[in-house]
Amino acid sequence: MDNNVRYNWATYGVGVIGNELAGAMKALGGNLYSVGNRTHEKAVSFAKKYGISKVYDDPDEMFEDPKVDIIYVSTPHNTHIDILRKALSSGKHVLCEKSITLNSKELEEAVRLAKENNVILAEAMTLYHMPIYNKLNDIINTGRLGNLKIIQMNFGSYKDYDMNNRFFNPNLAGGALLDIGVYALSFVRMFMDKTPDKIEAQVKYAPTGVDEQMSMLLMNESGQMATVIISLHTKQPKRGLLAFENGYVEIYEYPRGEKAVITYTADGSREVIESGETKRALEYEVLDMEEAVSGGMNNMKLQYTEDVMEIMTGLREKFKIVYPEEK
Ligand SMILES: NC(=O)c1ccc[n+]([C@@H]2O[C@H](COP(=O)([O-])OP(=O)(O)OC[C@H]3O[C@@H](n4cnc5c(N)ncnc54)[C@H](OP(=O)(O)O)[C@@H]3O)[C@@H](O)[C@H]2O)c1
Repeated sequence: MDNNVRYNWATYGVGVIGNELAGAMKALGGNLYSVGNRTHEKAVSFAKKYGISKVYDDPDEMFEDPKVDIIYVSTPHNTHIDILRKALSSGKHVLCEKSITLNSKELEEAVRLAKENNVILAEAMTLYHMPIYNKLNDIINTGRLGNLKIIQMNFGSYKDYDMNNRFFNPNLAGGALLDIGVYALSFVRMFMDKTPDKIEAQVKYAPTGVDEQMSMLLMNESGQMATVIISLHTKQPKRGLLAFENGYVEIYEYPRGEKAVITYTADGSREVIESGETKRALEYEVLDMEEAVSGGMNNMKLQYTEDVMEIMTGLREKFKIVYPEEK
């Protein structure tokens, strides 16, 4: 198989999504160059599993390794900023899992460091890289759907109140907003022509004090509106709805969507559009990151990441959800 991976990637973290990244690299015909992890033995078995030759005794050694071009960060949210500081200051490009930081202040610092060191910084937001959205945007840009008016977006998964995982644990920056709200808001931001500046919301707290459930009403200067309901304690379909003047678009499993259905309201006719494959989500992300690093088209949408982080920061301030690192 052709090797479509041009750069040397190091992964910081070997959990669920770290394994997915290693699988994506293999599927692209390449491999991760190196791995580092808090628990060294897990890095060793990860390296064995994927045939990676370089394992660091201390994951921070990857910042000083001259062979490393791009670092992929897949540790919990509250650990990101420290890793970003060191990686960006060492001149490494970084693709960091969502949510990229805890708040806008941290993100501003990371963006500044990336600029100072002339490197690419991006959040690993799969939906920004799914081919279905390019196809959908081509149709939207023809103008036949008219202007976008309303977005509805839900995301819910059922997680137990288990403090051993990150979901409800304030010490691991748990809560629905940073864990899944970030997807819903990224979808909203990607389709709105300006970021929402009027936001109302309701919260239901988990027993640990983080946000278990949140509903949001958002509007931007152009009058485009969105409703978003997220929950970490009930399952909902990952369904996105875009309502235009002349029709509406439904998209399922939207963070890694591959199919959308357009209904034209004048005659009720339907158009099914398909592009890309859900299982290749991380491959698209890797290829876009490599393109950006090569100096080609930068499709990493960092401005959207900043806009979404500003919304989430404002909502957590409103609901007084403060993580230990922020006190
Ligand atoms: N984009 C997506 O589709 C997607 C999907 C899932 C998760 N994520 C994001 O990816 C990140 C990790 O999620 P995951 O599900 O892969 O988690 P996970 O399976 O629990 O793995 C977490 C990884 O982070 C390391 N880690 C934990 N605490 C740490 C600390 N204090 N300092 C340094 N390393 C630490 C763990 O190391 P040990 O081996 O030492 O425990 C492990 O390698 C989260 O930010 C999450 O939101 C994204």
